[in-house]
Amino acid sequence: MSAALSMTEGNNLRHFLDIRDLDTRTLRQILDVSAGIKAMQKGRQRPLHPAAPLAGRTLGIILSKPSTRTRVSFEVGIRQLGGDAVVLTSAETQLGRGESVADTARVLSRFVDALVLRTGRTASLLELAQWSQVPVINGLTPDSHPVQILADILTFEEHRGPVKGRTFAWIGDGNNVATSLIEAATRFGFSLRLATPAAFAPKADIVAWARAQGGDIILTQDPKEAVSGADCILTDTWVSMSDEDAAERIALLEPYRVDASLMSLAAKDALFMHCLPAHIGEEVTAEVFESPASVVFDEAENRLHAQKGLMVWAMCGDDWQKYGQE
Ligand code: CP
Ligand code: NVA
Repeated sequence: MSAALSMTEGNNLRHFLDIRDLDTRTLRQILDVSAGIKAMQKGRQRPLHPAAPLAGRTLGIILSKPSTRTRVSFEVGIRQLGGDAVVLTSAETQLGRGESVADTARVLSRFVDALVLRTGRTASLLELAQWSQVPVINGLTPDSHPVQILADILTFEEHRGPVKGRTFAWIGDGNNVATSLIEAATRFGFSLRLATPAAFAPKADIVAWARAQGGDIILTQDPKEAVSGADCILTDTWVSMSDEDAAERIALLEPYRVDASLMSLAAKDALFMHCLPAHIGEEVTAEVFESPASVVFDEAENRLHAQKGLMVWAMCGDDWQKYGQE
């Protein structure tokens, strides 16, 4: 078969590149399976899923950028479901010496059952998905962070019930995490207000897509307007891994710190979320970060559970949903 013919574009692999690629029903089912597997694990007080749905499966985790939560949640998650993982950092592979993503995809597809990629180049993720013969999961690009947002929805719903009809507020940089949140608001039916400086507004094409789909997305430069009466306040670092203009960003984002006075404008039982790592004193004060409203460590734990539902969806075929039930 020629190289061109071996491209897998358009096939039925369950890639997870962005929230918007999946319909609402599938996203909801992934979260249901995640919650089911979590309840099973907590009930048994031991980590292994009795049916070991990923026994014999191996996940390749390719990291071109640092990671704590994403790496550990996928690695531990697949082991707890009976499978195994291999972690590859770009510097330790031939990718770091210039081997193409296409060739890497075609080689790794013969060894592993799914791939996670964290990369500083969105084009690399798309190329990996195009050439891979196994599902590819976006573990963060400069443009989106969909696996984080699955965990965020799971966390809100555990604490406050369905997200549908609720109001979320994003404060600070309209970055990769904000993009995935916009997509989730559209798919799950919650309102989202984003307060950012004009220079760091969310990507216009994603906002346009969301609104065309009926998403309730409000953009403002005023954090107070965004948080007023909101049920969940989220923020993230002012300087992401792919950003090079740190000083300019910190200066422009200074009025966007989430502090107690801003939180006091939100709904009385509003939650505070942050994907972590946090920069205390920059995007959030210690007072808010350590407050009862803050669920950041539940959110971090839920990376593990959401990753499990996602991996079962990606790798377990048509009856994948049975693994969310006892
Ligand atoms: N939130 C998140 O993705 O964390 P890591 O960078 O540690 O993976
Ligand atoms: N926006 C951050 C998220 C880190 C998990 C970054 O891209 O660095």
